[in-house]
Amino acid sequence: MINIALFGPPGAGKGTQSKLLLEKYNLAYIATGDILRKEIAERTELGLKAKDIIEKGGLVSDEIIVQIIERTILENQQVSGFLFDGFPRTYVQAYILEGLLLKLNTSLTCMISLNVPRTELVQRLLERSKTSQRIDDTPEVIETRLEEYELKTAQVADFYKEKGIYIDILGTGTIPEVFSTLNHTIETMLRKVWMNIVLIGYPGAGKGTQAMKLAEKYNLVYISTGDMMRNELSNNSDVGLKIRPFLEKGTIVPDEIAIKLIESKIKMNSKANGFIFKGFPRNLVQAYILDGMLRKMNSTVSKVLFLDVPVLEAIKRLNTRAKSQKSRPYDMSTDLILQRLEEFEKITYPIVDYYKKLDKLVAISGLGSEEEVGRQIFSEVEKTLRQIR
Ligand code: AP5
Ligand code: MG
Repeated sequence: MINIALFGPPGAGKGTQSKLLLEKYNLAYIATGDILRKEIAERTELGLKAKDIIEKGGLVSDEIIVQIIERTILENQQVSGFLFDGFPRTYVQAYILEGLLLKLNTSLTCMISLNVPRTELVQRLLERSKTSQRIDDTPEVIETRLEEYELKTAQVADFYKEKGIYIDILGTGTIPEVFSTLNHTIETMLRKVWMNIVLIGYPGAGKGTQAMKLAEKYNLVYISTGDMMRNELSNNSDVGLKIRPFLEKGTIVPDEIAIKLIESKIKMNSKANGFIFKGFPRNLVQAYILDGMLRKMNSTVSKVLFLDVPVLEAIKRLNTRAKSQKSRPYDMSTDLILQRLEEFEKITYPIVDYYKKLDKLVAISGLGSEEEVGRQIFSEVEKTLRQIR
């Protein structure tokens, strides 16, 4: 999902630019001012409550705004994101937006502010008043609205500056000129949105093979906790020494170690298009950890691909691998193979349900040839790419 908030004082051009943006991006438009004016025109209870305040140029209560936003979000379930115009308008509303988007398991991608000098704002609004029939486009009320902006709204910028997602652009110049700057800003920002794919499946499902192909094709950074750990081990690093006893006994390495390895790999590659995770998360706790880690970096899991292979087929494949040059120490006995399959069913499988509930899971049959499976995976990833950008 991409969620953009257009920000700026009355007359900055938020509504004007929103219309142009909506033609280009498939976003649901949430303009609190427009919605309130509609409520007033329809003389609804909510409209009646808001009318006096809007007429005077004040701000409507947060309770009313929450109702409006929640309702509009509910009415737009299958969209690729939201465009907010006129919201959030107070520090409190910024927190409210965080909470509402958290419920949708997403967050604000960026806030773009249109910067226009006060004299031009007043000029534009007075000009608009000749045709707009807006009850708040009178000289006195325009003055009050600008004051309200300075007093209560301008500080919202700080909230997003702190989060590192605030972008200020020049709102003067012609409408197409501003649109072009805006577009350029959004395109640049979208290139920075990571696509994060998680690949899960039974041991022997073909995750490693497919993950590497994906990484190459989409220029994603391949994160395999198993590979990273083996690497540390063979380098005899400090981390390697710590994990040696666990790997030797075949027990699970503590989460703290895996997290540090993943975090440092992500940080080293912050300019990447995204990441592909293999071997992590392997239990529900790690799924929560991954969510938390990505959220901290203003990102999220984009899609989870479940490579589905019948158990019997998995056993056959692992058995074949055991006899080949690619054999792993843990392929060597039937006991070990069965133990790992069982572990997957008991411990890893619950994350399939977890991601299903979040609407992020796609099951892909891992039967078929490497190329066939690859084609299905690529087609899902293409879809994901369209959803996030
Ligand atoms: P709202 O409807 O959001 O009004 P606003 O913030 O005062 O902003 P405007 O709609 O007046 O300006 P705009 O930036 O959209 O500019 P526009 O594109 O029209 O809110 C109204 C009221 O509702 C509030 O006062 C409050 O009471 C209440 N409310 C709403 N949301 C709320 C919330 N979250 N919490 C509490 N209360 C809330 O452009 C202006 C004019 O300039 C147009 O005529 C346009 O054609 C022209 N123009 C645009 N761009 C250019 C350009 N580049 N060059 C020349 N002219 C331009
Ligand atoms: Mg507007």
